[in-house]
Amino acid sequence: MSPEGFKNWSDDVLARVETALSEWVPVSAPAGLGEAMRYGVLEGGKRLRALLVQAAAQAVGALASPAGAEAALRAACAVELIHAYSLVHDDMPCMDNDVLRRGKPTVHVAFGEAQAMLAGDAMQALAFEVLTPDVGEGAGVAPALQARLVRLLARASGQSGMAGGQAIDLASVGRALDEQTLRDMHQRKTGALLQASVQMGAACGGLQADSAAWQALTAYGHAMGLAFQIVDDVLDATQGSETLGKTAGKDADANKPTYVSLLGLEGARQEAADLLTQARDALARSGLSEQATAPLAALADRIVHRDH
Ligand code: IPE
Ligand code: IPE
Ligand code: MG
Ligand code: MG
Ligand code: MG
Repeated sequence: MSPEGFKNWSDDVLARVETALSEWVPVSAPAGLGEAMRYGVLEGGKRLRALLVQAAAQAVGALASPAGAEAALRAACAVELIHAYSLVHDDMPCMDNDVLRRGKPTVHVAFGEAQAMLAGDAMQALAFEVLTPDVGEGAGVAPALQARLVRLLARASGQSGMAGGQAIDLASVGRALDEQTLRDMHQRKTGALLQASVQMGAACGGLQADSAAWQALTAYGHAMGLAFQIVDDVLDATQGSETLGKTAGKDADANKPTYVSLLGLEGARQEAADLLTQARDALARSGLSEQATAPLAALADRIVHRDH
């Protein structure tokens, strides 16, 4: 896929996701909660998880039917809602205590800690509401697919995924973890949600878990999920706050174990490069055409070679 082709493809996805999120995150939530939610979710973020959902859905032909396209749009927005909620809570003083996110003051700085906590709670609930539309809402998503999407997202968000990984992260401050433990932390706190993004897209096309394509896409998501957090660790140590839109150098300051603290910059970069190769290999054995997987391949490059 040419850089221009990828840009056109992603611009189109981003416009649809942004419009849908703006429609679904209610301004009318009581006592200023809607304002805090919208501040935390809208206008900002690379939306890589939404792009992964859409790229996987496209790869398996899910976007050809109105119901598949509706499910994939809902899945893309739901995963971004969970991600945004995780960032709002991650930035709070009881966790990473950050004041800058997506180039703006963090939600708790702008709205207070209680409102930030509630905005995160409400975003999490909204994600699952978005995945379970009423009969007659939109193009209709079959109940069995709704349940499957809910389960995939729930497992990636809870103790076996993001929340569990965040607990390990906080418990590991000041400790040197071995590579296996660090990998487990990264896979849970960040990898699980990226992998689930790919799986949710694949589920929208009805792919069954025992199919070769599902397994290959799962391996792709697994590799890219870990690579994503390794690159996040590298960028924290190498980029400025201006480029990142969040405070740079936080991991070393807070004494967090990262791939950079364990392997050094070059070691961490090499690990990310190896995972990119693994992700490409997985696509090559998926049985899906090169044309169908082109956006997934381009996204893998983007995830590893980004500068913010
Ligand atoms: C940052 O994620 C937090 C991590 C899980 C490392 P992103 O880099 O995807 O954040 P946004 O959504 O683009 O702001
Ligand atoms: C956060 O990891 C992972 C989440 C689940 C939010 P980080 O703490 O490294 O994310 P940043 O660097 O603040 O975006
Ligand atoms: Mg953190
Ligand atoms: Mg953080
Ligand atoms: Mg980080």
